[in-house]
Amino acid sequence: MNPIWIDTDLGFDDLAAVITVAQQPGWTIDGLSLVAGNAPLPVVTDNALRAAHCFGWRMPIHAGCAAPLVGPLVTAQNILGEDAMASAGAQLPQERAALDALPAVDALAVWLRQAAAPATVLALGPLTNLATLLQRDPTLAPRIGRLVWMGGSAGPGNHTAAAEFNAAVDPEAINVVLDAGVPLEMVGLDACRQARVHAADADALRALGTPRGRLLGDLLLGYVRIASPDGRLPMSLYDPTAAAALVDADCMEWRPAHVVAECEGRHTRGMTVVEWRVPRKAAANARVAHIADEARVRRVVLDALAAAAA
Ligand code: BDR
Ligand code: CA
Repeated sequence: MNPIWIDTDLGFDDLAAVITVAQQPGWTIDGLSLVAGNAPLPVVTDNALRAAHCFGWRMPIHAGCAAPLVGPLVTAQNILGEDAMASAGAQLPQERAALDALPAVDALAVWLRQAAAPATVLALGPLTNLATLLQRDPTLAPRIGRLVWMGGSAGPGNHTAAAEFNAAVDPEAINVVLDAGVPLEMVGLDACRQARVHAADADALRALGTPRGRLLGDLLLGYVRIASPDGRLPMSLYDPTAAAALVDADCMEWRPAHVVAECEGRHTRGMTVVEWRVPRKAAANARVAHIADEARVRRVVLDALAAAAA
C-alpha cells in the first residue's frame, strides 16, 4: 500500500485529481487538508464534504488556512464560478460527509510524525498549509519524502502572463517549502498543457448512464468550456495531471532544476523562476515535469473517472 496525503483547494479539477488517486489499487489517501485558493475556505470545504459523501471517500477531511501567508486571498471564481466547480449548472448532491475537528496543519503534522517512512504528499493548491506546517515545525521537513505539487510554470503563466494560479496565490509559501529542503516535484503548466480533455470525454462519461457518470460528465463539460464556450477546443488537465504523475511515474519526463518564486515583481509576482542549468548555475532543489505522455495521462485520469461513475 502507498499511503498519501492530499492538500487541496477543492474545485472541479481537484475533485478529478482526488478521484484519480482514490481509484488506484495500491494507493490509500490517509487524509485531505483543505486550503483557500480556487474559492474561499468555506466553499472549498463544502465542495470536499459533498464530494466525499457522493463518492464514498472515507479519509478524514480537515479545514486549513483561509488566507495566504501574505496579503489577501485571490480566488479563481471569475473562471470557475462561485462554487469553483466550473459546473455550468451541474451540482454535487447536497448530502455532506462530516468535517474532522482537527485543523489541517495539526492533522498533517500528526500524520507525518506517525508515518513509517518518508511520506508522500500531493498538493493541488496554494502551498499555504505546507508552508505553515514547516514554519511551525521545521523538523517535519525530512519526513516528507515526496511532495508532488500542481503549480508553477517554467514558461508563461495562466493567472497572469508570468504566474500560474496556485503560485500566484501564495508565492511566499513556495519559497518556505523549498527553503525547508522538501523534495519538490513540480507538475506545472509546462506538463499540464500537454495533457488535455475534450467535450467528447465528457460525453463518454454521460453515456455511462449512471447518476455519477452524468454528474462527472456535466462537470467535465463545464471545465472543457473554460477553454472555449462552444467546447470546440481542448482544455488542459491541471490537478489530474499531477495525480497521474504521482501514481504512474512513467507518464512524465522530469528534469532537475533550481526553482524560486518571485515575490516582489510588480508584473511577475508569483512567477516560478526555473533554472535548468544545474548544478552549473545553482544547486537543484526540485524536479520539474517537462514532458507529459498525453495518452497515458488521459488514460489514467479518464479510466478513474469512469470507474468512480459506476
Ligand atoms: C491550478 O489552479 C486552480 O484553479 C486549479 O485547481 C489548479 O490547481 C491551475 O493553475
Ligand atoms: Ca487546485
